[in-house]
Amino acid sequence: MSDFLKVSRDGDVAIVTIDNPPVNALSFHVREPLMQALVELRDDPSVAAIVIACAGRTFVAGADITEFGKPVQQPDLRAIVATLETIAKPTIAAIHGTALGGGLELALGCHFRVADAGARLGLPEVKLGLLPGGGGTVRLPRLVGAGKALKMIVSGSPIGAEEAHAAGLVDAVFEGDLTTHAVNFAREIARKGGPFTPVRDRNDGLKETDLAAFDAEAADLAKKARGLEAPIACAQAVRNAVTLPFDEALAAERALFVKLVASDQSRAQRHLFFAEREAAKIPGKDLIKRRIARIGVIGAGTMGGGIAMAFANGGYSVTLLETSQEPLQRGLGTIDRNYAVSVTRGSLTEDAKRQRLAQFTGSTDYADLADCDLIIEAVFEDMAVKKEVFGKLDVVAKPGAILATNTSYLDINEIAASTSRPQDVLGLHFFSPANVMKLLEIVRAEKTAPDALAAVVDMARRIGKVAVVVGVCHGFVGNRMLAARGAESEALLLEGATPRQIDHAFTDFGWPMGPFQMGDLAGLDIGWRNRKARGQTAVIADTLCEQGRFGQKTGRGFYLYEAGSRTPVTDPQVEALIRDKAAERGIEPRAIGGEEIIERTLYPLVNEGARILEEGIATRASDIDVVWVNGYGFPVGKGGPMFWAGLEGPAQLIERLDHWHQRTGKDVFKVAPLLRRMAETGSWEVGAVS
Ligand code: 3HC
Ligand code: NAI
Repeated sequence: MSDFLKVSRDGDVAIVTIDNPPVNALSFHVREPLMQALVELRDDPSVAAIVIACAGRTFVAGADITEFGKPVQQPDLRAIVATLETIAKPTIAAIHGTALGGGLELALGCHFRVADAGARLGLPEVKLGLLPGGGGTVRLPRLVGAGKALKMIVSGSPIGAEEAHAAGLVDAVFEGDLTTHAVNFAREIARKGGPFTPVRDRNDGLKETDLAAFDAEAADLAKKARGLEAPIACAQAVRNAVTLPFDEALAAERALFVKLVASDQSRAQRHLFFAEREAAKIPGKDLIKRRIARIGVIGAGTMGGGIAMAFANGGYSVTLLETSQEPLQRGLGTIDRNYAVSVTRGSLTEDAKRQRLAQFTGSTDYADLADCDLIIEAVFEDMAVKKEVFGKLDVVAKPGAILATNTSYLDINEIAASTSRPQDVLGLHFFSPANVMKLLEIVRAEKTAPDALAAVVDMARRIGKVAVVVGVCHGFVGNRMLAARGAESEALLLEGATPRQIDHAFTDFGWPMGPFQMGDLAGLDIGWRNRKARGQTAVIADTLCEQGRFGQKTGRGFYLYEAGSRTPVTDPQVEALIRDKAAERGIEPRAIGGEEIIERTLYPLVNEGARILEEGIATRASDIDVVWVNGYGFPVGKGGPMFWAGLEGPAQLIERLDHWHQRTGKDVFKVAPLLRRMAETGSWEVGAVS
């Protein structure tokens, strides 16, 4: 018995209840009494069966991630599972909430697993740059087969109780009081009598493995891993479960785990796990928040439609407002088609689609927004239009309604000041497609009320977004840093790099695609229009747009695209254009290596991040990492730009930024004082700057 673990009895069935809020992680203070209880119950002749259950909202959600990187305190999970397997009487895991990682591995140490109908089971270690290190890779395939185990372990995605039942991972699914059901199940099993075979000895399923098919699938997964070591190690470990005796496979799993847990990639991914949760912590979080139930969205274009879908998917009713019936019906039609695609792909049923669509009300009358608690505008990016919209909202919105703008760049303080209620105004900067992309920049304006901010932070979580609170500046955190990343793109081209070389340097780094492929995908005309509005030029990109080359949508941009294909093909005409423009400027092309490309794109990205921190636009360096990983595809294995700067070495960044600053005189290379201080203190804390 301890504060974190209780043992109770229901007749001859012992119930071990782990109680380690919030998620019953297997911290040392749980493992120690758990081991002791298991040994005592094993040796107690009055106990016929043992149920392992959890108090609170979930079964064990895994090892305690905060203990990683510190010396292991015994007993570790492996020792506990090994002890479980020495117990001759039946052991039953009673799973509610989530059995994840070490939690599922603990359950795999039991003879039986029973689950609440709403439970989810999985091995998500890969998302932390790890593989299951408590025998999961060796035991799971023995129950569900190697192919299914490979999918579950490499994806890290949990499965529901029913699916787990069908796959053989769970022995019974119950609704209602799980502990009572589990005790009855245990008693019945004990009555029937043993022997009870531990999972480690259940080898039958493995014999049917088609190794050639397994290897083909593993090779496919390795290709998609984009430089991440963990998915490959996961696949190797599951293969070992098939080809090696149990104990050898277990030892190999351990060796891989020890290697991964010490790797920079896993450190980076663990950093992101905590960074995402930290980002949601803001002063005023405990205030009584404004209630958000009814949502209004203004503008049914690309963003408005996606934003409305994001809310509908999160269970909210949405009123979608447009200037007239024509764009309104077009927007609603697009939403309908998007849901139809989900039905075709099998991620939504026809019934669910009908229900979703019933959550939308179309309107062209602002009076219909009068009962909304949160209204988000996604109209044209034009200050005059935005002010006109906010003027109308000021008249119709009920007192206390939160008025949000999805602007990419405009000054939200100015928008707020144009209303009589600036305390209710803030930015909700969604990323395209808004119903898919996880990131939400929540922009706090000068006068935004803390209870309004706290309410939208909460709401973001409810619609499954990763929220980061940022301050007002041109482009906020993400787009402002993106501009710094792209500032040298044209110069690199003119000096001799090709779009393909630059894109390759990015994909080698781990990005899903490089900046030119990204530009072609998003549409080069967007940047062109922005540049024209700001009186800026970019000689290569502007010329391409003048030639009607807007990217994928016109079949030509920085690359060529064959009809219906998204695969970029190098276009000699673009390379000739670059050479001509360089010659006009008297620039002699030279060979440019991958290192220089990274120095001139990603070092300024970090440098701009440092400025953003200095200015208080972002609260923490880790918030910036969350923005870049979730909004722009910064490789998770590098932890986001600010974490990566620590790995790369701030001194190295400073040396190269100084070099390029001396050589070009450009502002993007002017080292931010906070970066210099970070090199001295090892910390991004602004307080560290004197
Ligand atoms: N260790 C330590 N702390 C954890 C934790 C863990 N495994 N899982 C969650 N927490 C903490 C969070 O940091 C958060 O702390 P905070 O309140 O101070 O910010 C708190 O628990 C609540 O977490 P969430 O905000 O994420 O709560 P949700 O209800 O949204 O989600 C969850 C619950 C689905 C369990 C989610 O927390 C989760 O996915 N946790 C991680 C699961 C995981 O990765 N398990 C594998 C761990 S590695 C492992 O087991 C190795 C083994 O193979 C040896
Ligand atoms: P869009 O052109 O696709 O849609 C704008 C819609 O607003 C149109 O349907 C138009 O009819 C409607 N509209 C215009 N004035 C209106 C008014 N007064 N009342 C009601 N409806 C009105 O534009 P998009 O791309 O959806 O952008 C909208 C906003 O979102 C802009 O501020 C943009 O900067 C921002 N944004 C865009 C992103 C993108 O990737 N497209 C990403 C993040 C933000």
